This record gives sequence, C-alpha cells and structure tokens, in this order.
Amino acid sequence: MADARPRLPVSYDLAVDLICRAARRSDFAEIITLLERCFDEAAPGFFAAQTGHDSTFRLRHARVAVIDGRIAGYVRIFARRMVVAGLAVVAGGIGSVATRPDLQGRGIATALLEDAVARMRQERMEVSFLFTGIPAFYERLGYQILRQPEITLPRATARSGGASLYAVRPAAAGDLPRLLAIYRMATGDATGAIIRTPRGWTDAQHWLDERPALVATRGGVVVAYIRSRCRDFGHQILEAECAPDHADALSALVRAVAQETCSCDALVASVPTTHRLASLLRRLPEARETTDVRHPMMLRLLIDDPDITTAFARATIYFWNSDRI
Ligand SMILES: CC(C)(COP(=O)(O)OP(=O)(O)OC[C@H]1O[C@@H](n2cnc3c(N)ncnc32)[C@H](O)[C@@H]1OP(=O)(O)O)[C@@H](O)C(=O)NCCC(=O)NCCS
Repeated sequence: MADARPRLPVSYDLAVDLICRAARRSDFAEIITLLERCFDEAAPGFFAAQTGHDSTFRLRHARVAVIDGRIAGYVRIFARRMVVAGLAVVAGGIGSVATRPDLQGRGIATALLEDAVARMRQERMEVSFLFTGIPAFYERLGYQILRQPEITLPRATARSGGASLYAVRPAAAGDLPRLLAIYRMATGDATGAIIRTPRGWTDAQHWLDERPALVATRGGVVVAYIRSRCRDFGHQILEAECAPDHADALSALVRAVAQETCSCDALVASVPTTHRLASLLRRLPEARETTDVRHPMMLRLLIDDPDITTAFARATIYFWNSDRI
C-alpha cells in the first residue's frame, strides 16, 4: 500500500520550503516523538514532563521548523531570570534542539536557532544560555563556552569525618520557603545564578529525577541544604547552599549524601568556581578536578549593553546543575 504521508521533496530550498513558527498544541505528539528519537539517552517521559510541568512554558517559546506540513525540527526557549551584577536580567535558555534524522545537515537547526534568537530579542531577553555536548555547533552562532569545575571523588572517601554541630534530615515540603531564602541570600550578587520562584523549584522536580533534598539544621532551624541524584557516571550533587556563618553545615551534608543508599561509587559535582563547596570537595582525598566537562554551559549576549558585557567579562559565572535545561 502506498505511504499516505506527504513525500518530502528530494531537494528543496530552505528559504522557500521551510517555515519556522510557534508550536501549536496539536503539534506536541509529533514534537515529543521527534525529541525521544533524537535524544535516546533521555529518561522516558522527560520531555513530556519538561513541557507539561513547567509553569514558564509558553507555546510562542516552542519553535518548530515545518516542511511540507510536517515537523522537521524543534527548539525550545526557556524563559528565566538571571542575576547579572546584582540585577535581574531576562534570560532565554535554549534546549531540546532537534532535527529529524533524515533531514539533518541541511541547515534546519541553524534556521531554528536564528528564529529563536529573533524571538528572544523581541521579548527583550538580554542573554541566552544553553548546555551542550556539541559546542562547535553553537560557537558558529555566537555562543561561548563557560567553564565551571567538575569535581569527582570516590564516595567512600567523603563518608568519614568527626561529629558535627548540625543535624541532617530529609527536606519536608514546608521547608521550601526557607530553602528559597537560603538560595536567595547565597546568590543575590552571583552573576549567572538563575532567580528561583517556588513554582520553578517544584516544577523542576518533575524532570530532574532527584533524590529528596537533605537539610542541615541547627537548633531546629534549617541553615543549609543539598540536592543530588543518581546518574550512570556517579552520584551527582546538583546544588548545595548554606545561610551565612553556616559553611560547616555543607561538610555534614556532603557526608550525609555520601552515606545515602545507592549504587554510585563516585560523587560528582559541577560547582561554581568560587563556591565553598568547591574548596570543601577539593580537600577530600582522591578528589579530581576538570573544567573540560561533557556538556558545558554556553552563553551569548543578545543585546549590546556595555554594563552587561562588562559584568560577564569580569564575573566568575555562578551556576548550579539543577537549573540545567
Ligand atoms: C544537532 C542537530 C540539532 C543539528 O541539526 P541540523 O539541522 O542537522 O543542523 P544544521 O544543518 O543547521 O547544521 C549542521 C551542523 O551541525 C553541526 N553538528 C551536527 N551534529 C553535530 C555533532 N553531533 N557534533 C558536532 N557538530 C554537529 C555540524 O557542524 C554541521 O555542520 P556541517 O554541515 O558543516 O557538517 C541534529 O544533529 C540533532 O537533532 N541531533 C540530535 C540531538 C542533539 O544532539 N541536539 C543538540 C543538543 S545540544
């Protein structure tokens, strides 16, 4: 029986045949199939969760490339706010970049990214960021790699240590306002940090696949927290922050994470360069550090603002894995 689907032209002219537009609700079954095909390493249900449970999701930020009525490629803009030199700047994360395998290498993703950049500028987004295993592709489009240290050590070596003044327990739902307050105190001046909302924090839990966060308390008050998840390359610390004067609570939390029951042999953390967690992990036996990470962060300024350019040139970028998209 003949294939009822419209046939793609053997050769086509991108300028004529390719339409980049906002996605429609009716496109999503096709989009999710495309993403699952292009990212076969993604956890089952990841893309559906990242679309269905993200309160920042807007159809105008889901950009599709259409050829002959069929979706040929997809790019998603993630609307975020980022701290830059102590101010909140509107930022556009780029993620879920995919072209149908039979149409790759013909400029579709490039066209979609150009369309996404135009859309972000239209919405006055000032900076764009992404994470990728193929940085060369994005360098052509003006994105630059930002390097953060990734520290790896055997989990066993992080388990030991003396008695702590801090008690550690799993976070409860009622802790969220305090965790957000600790995060805000820690990142108020940290260029690169994503500004969190309660909704954003809980949304991300639908796709991060993280273990329950652990909190450190002193006198019953939560003063620090740590978030982590199990990955095939090790137990990954996603983020850890503490209230001022409670840096020692991080040691208790790292030890508690290392003692959790899971099959990961290594502890792996991508840490803001100047963060106290980085110095703590570096001191532990057999810690190895690299900035040559598998999926580095990349950044591109979208507007010509000398204050922002200078802020990024001077700052050590502060970013946690829990905000990856
Ligand atoms: C990456 C991807 C979106 C590119 O889509 P595309 O429509 O083929 O891209 P374009 O035709 O606009 O650009 C092609 C360029 O992409 C680059 N590229 C594509 N795949 C690449 C890879 N795996 N590694 C490095 N560069 C790659 C090449 O530089 C290529 O340039 P060339 O034509 O000079 O060889 C597509 O290959 C894909 O869907 N891959 C699987 C999902 C994925 O990895 N997405 C990116 C995650 S950050």
